[in-house]
Amino acid sequence: MSESTIESILHENRLFQPPSAFSQQARIKSLEEYEQLYERAKADPQKFWADLATQELHWFEKWHTVLDWQPPFAKWFDGGKTNISYNCLDRHLTTWRRNKAALIWEGEPGDSRTLTYAQLHREVCQFANVLKQLGVGKGDVVGIYMPMIPEAAIAMLACARIGAPHTVVFGGFSAEALRDRLIDGKAKLVVTADGGWRKDAIVPLKDQVDKALAEGVVPTVENVLVVQRTAQSIHMEPGRDHWWHDLQKGVSGNCPAEPMDSEDMLFILYTSGSTGKPKGVVHTTAGYNLYTHMTTKWIFDIQDNDVYWCTADVGWITGHSYIVYGPLSNGATTLMYEGAPRPSNPGCFWDVIEKHGVNIFYTAPTAIRAFIKMGEHLPNARDLSSLRLLGTVGEPINPEAWMWYYRVIGGERCPIVDTWWQTETGGIMITPLPGAIPTKPGSATRPFPGILAEVVDLDGNPVSADEGGYLAVKHPWPGMMRTVYGDPDRFRRTYWEHIPPRDGQYLYFAGDGARCDADGYFWVMGRVDDVINVAGHRLGTMEVESALVSHPAVAEAAVVGKPDEVKGNDIVAFVTLEGSFKPSEELKNELKKHVVQEIGAIARPGEIRFSDALPKTRSGKIMRRLLRSLAAGEEVAGDTSTLEDRSVLDKLREGA
Ligand code: PRX
Repeated sequence: MSESTIESILHENRLFQPPSAFSQQARIKSLEEYEQLYERAKADPQKFWADLATQELHWFEKWHTVLDWQPPFAKWFDGGKTNISYNCLDRHLTTWRRNKAALIWEGEPGDSRTLTYAQLHREVCQFANVLKQLGVGKGDVVGIYMPMIPEAAIAMLACARIGAPHTVVFGGFSAEALRDRLIDGKAKLVVTADGGWRKDAIVPLKDQVDKALAEGVVPTVENVLVVQRTAQSIHMEPGRDHWWHDLQKGVSGNCPAEPMDSEDMLFILYTSGSTGKPKGVVHTTAGYNLYTHMTTKWIFDIQDNDVYWCTADVGWITGHSYIVYGPLSNGATTLMYEGAPRPSNPGCFWDVIEKHGVNIFYTAPTAIRAFIKMGEHLPNARDLSSLRLLGTVGEPINPEAWMWYYRVIGGERCPIVDTWWQTETGGIMITPLPGAIPTKPGSATRPFPGILAEVVDLDGNPVSADEGGYLAVKHPWPGMMRTVYGDPDRFRRTYWEHIPPRDGQYLYFAGDGARCDADGYFWVMGRVDDVINVAGHRLGTMEVESALVSHPAVAEAAVVGKPDEVKGNDIVAFVTLEGSFKPSEELKNELKKHVVQEIGAIARPGEIRFSDALPKTRSGKIMRRLLRSLAAGEEVAGDTSTLEDRSVLDKLREGA
């Protein structure tokens, strides 16, 4: 986050009360009600969650233990049997919701489709049967590499139905990134499409899958299922590749949901950390279902006649929790959009809201900042009066962007929920409940009931009001990640060892800096580790550095974030070259392209700076703090006495 954003957040003191019309119809109607709920959950978390699990979910068998906590490993609702696909589909079929729209899909260019709960259930059952016919069973991991089309959600729900954990890989990731994830997850089957639409062009997804699987480097993958979406010619490997529509034809639409143990793995989702290798975040069945269900219900306050739209991609946790599982578990109507704002259609989001009468809209600050640049005339020319609630996620929102969103999109009548959470937390952790908690622009406000969030120092002691510290969570919650796939030690090291236990209580370390004000409002400031948040996407500096040094011209690389008006942060790479290579514009472009090939377009460095050497400590550690200042064009402040060669700094400054 830029200095000016931090400045404006520090001096922000506007307070917006929930509109009374909103509060009257809301599930949680007042601050008192929230506080009572919060205190009740805090006093007895297990009873709080167990009561909700009984009321809100279907169980094949009840659990015997609400929480088994062997820090840092938690088991929720141990001994219980349930199925999230059943909770998202089957249980709605015996109600009036049977013929309600479950999924409204707005595709590109101009395609559109609506699936009722009955229709979605049928397609999910058919696809689950297709998976079974191909030998996929309980515990087999399925890779999903898809555009934003209904089949992505159908595939996820079909996997969940038969107990096959899915690992969705964002369609913008490269073949190399896909390959690494399929290898780590030991995927048995991949679901993809011939291509997807992305900003007026076709993304050749199937070609990427072919590259990822080339030369048998992912020996576990036996079959690839391909949805026909863009209809360009593609290679179909005999025996391995099958068209979705061929196999789905004539298959039974009846496939009972497998009773799953509460702690059976539901999915793996890879996310960046501070080492080069992305980690497989593991979420399990019952706790994740309950947590996404309750957060959707109370935070988005979805009512039965609402159309709810979250603009994330299903390749990220936001898409998992708040396009697919949370809304469908609540029997809501969820909208999925394949497009993205682009110069040829800058008003497309507002068209979608007008066309479908969207009531609840959830997007990212980076998108809002891009809309501000595109101009108010675009939303002003559309009818957005259907909107009643707005949300943001993914990065801190600067108060200016919050105010614009409130005024221009929400017409000053819609509350805004600024939701702080992570891939690891499964669902939203700190957020306003829109009918209850007054909002302050730039603050995610207060913790969700059952979440004991704190700002602490590195010894685990709470810091005073308004003092900066590390964001931590004190008690386990049902939606928390269970482990890093295949690496429980890394789970322990990354999240539970930065801060020592306090009074025997373990603290979850989120990796974010924050402060809590005198009203108990949280202000999240951004990452404190080697993770950069670029346009709401999380990237490890080491990942980008590894990609750079895999190019023959690069000897050494150090990557830092630099404040960016729209993206929040942009990537700046400092690079030293191998002997015979000379700095040039061509080489810069080639290196940028190389990173895109290795990771994906989201990791393309905004800037590459060549230098003879990188600033290091005497023990050889790159001093990123100095590079961050240089990248931002600031004076290098603070202690530089540990710098091995001080002339490096002057050269870097001159080079810029
Ligand atoms: O730094 C925080 C930021 O996004 C990180 C989590 O990224 P990811 O796992 O990709 O999940 C993104 C969607 C949940 C956090 O550690 N972040 C997310 N939401 C907010 C935020 N920072 C400030 N305010 C938020 N509302």
